[in-house]
Amino acid sequence: MSSTTPGPARTMRSRRSNLAVPGSSPKMLDKARGLPADQVFMDIEDAVAPLAKPEARKNIVAALNEGGYEGKVRAVRVNDWTTQWTYADVVEVVEGAGPNLDCIMLPKVQTAEQIVALDLLLTQIEKANGFEVGRIGIEAQIENAMGLINVDAIAAASPRVETIIFGPADFMASINMKSLVVGEQPPGYDVGDAYHYILMRILMAARAYDKQAIDGPYLQIKDVDGYRRVAGRSAALGFDGKWVLHPGQIDAANEIYSPRQEDYDKAELILDAYDYATSLQGGAKGAVMLGDEMIDEASRKMAIVVSAKGRAAGMVRTTSFTPPE
Ligand code: GLV
Ligand code: MG
Repeated sequence: MSSTTPGPARTMRSRRSNLAVPGSSPKMLDKARGLPADQVFMDIEDAVAPLAKPEARKNIVAALNEGGYEGKVRAVRVNDWTTQWTYADVVEVVEGAGPNLDCIMLPKVQTAEQIVALDLLLTQIEKANGFEVGRIGIEAQIENAMGLINVDAIAAASPRVETIIFGPADFMASINMKSLVVGEQPPGYDVGDAYHYILMRILMAARAYDKQAIDGPYLQIKDVDGYRRVAGRSAALGFDGKWVLHPGQIDAANEIYSPRQEDYDKAELILDAYDYATSLQGGAKGAVMLGDEMIDEASRKMAIVVSAKGRAAGMVRTTSFTPPE
């Protein structure tokens, strides 16, 4: 099942650091304005107590309309479709602040139909309020076994889907993992990385359908080394970013999900060198030496990925290419 909501072509913005802010805290909604996170997501779900949810919706609408989040992706996490809150979360937030909102984050997604339901509701609200139809994106959190086995269909369910997000805490509970420390290996597990399959499964769905893959929270907010270790794992695989629960994790995320300077420089060099080598002037060659390394079309493809991430992160190259005499 997939929806056919038309909409503008989606440009993927940098989402290295995704700052979680409870919608129940006007103070934290305000503080997020000045923090260097690529995305801020305002929560009405698990970081907000049931009794505080109506107030959280109001705080979020007010904060979005007041503005001050320029340069950041602005998302709101609503409650999942198995609760009684989802429709009212979406209606109140999107009717109240639609033009000042980029994405709705849907937690605990289990089926493609749940994405389609949100897509249809968004389209109705956009039409009824004269907003641009299809502009608001969807971020889908995969947080249980059902969501993971359906992740391909979920990624493909609507052109609004921009990210597939791993929700490790709920996921660990869903599969009965014997650990209470999110993202760390469960005690007694010594045959590799207990999260590898889950991360790879999400990454494959994201890449197959041209979505961003985002890693979830690391709860030990004072342990920045632990954050770096866990973030480094998903960044190495190819994930685009990770949640941050505390300002102290933001710099680590921005650094870890950007290429290293030496890799960025090398990527730009490969692109220039290969461009030259394949040109008439460079001899129209398809495989050439760059320093000690043989580069070909596949090297160019790898370089494009690193270069795109570096450019999106605003990196500046420190080397330049000079064609051989
Ligand atoms: C995030 O929502 C998680 O459950 O880890
Ligand atoms: Mg969760």
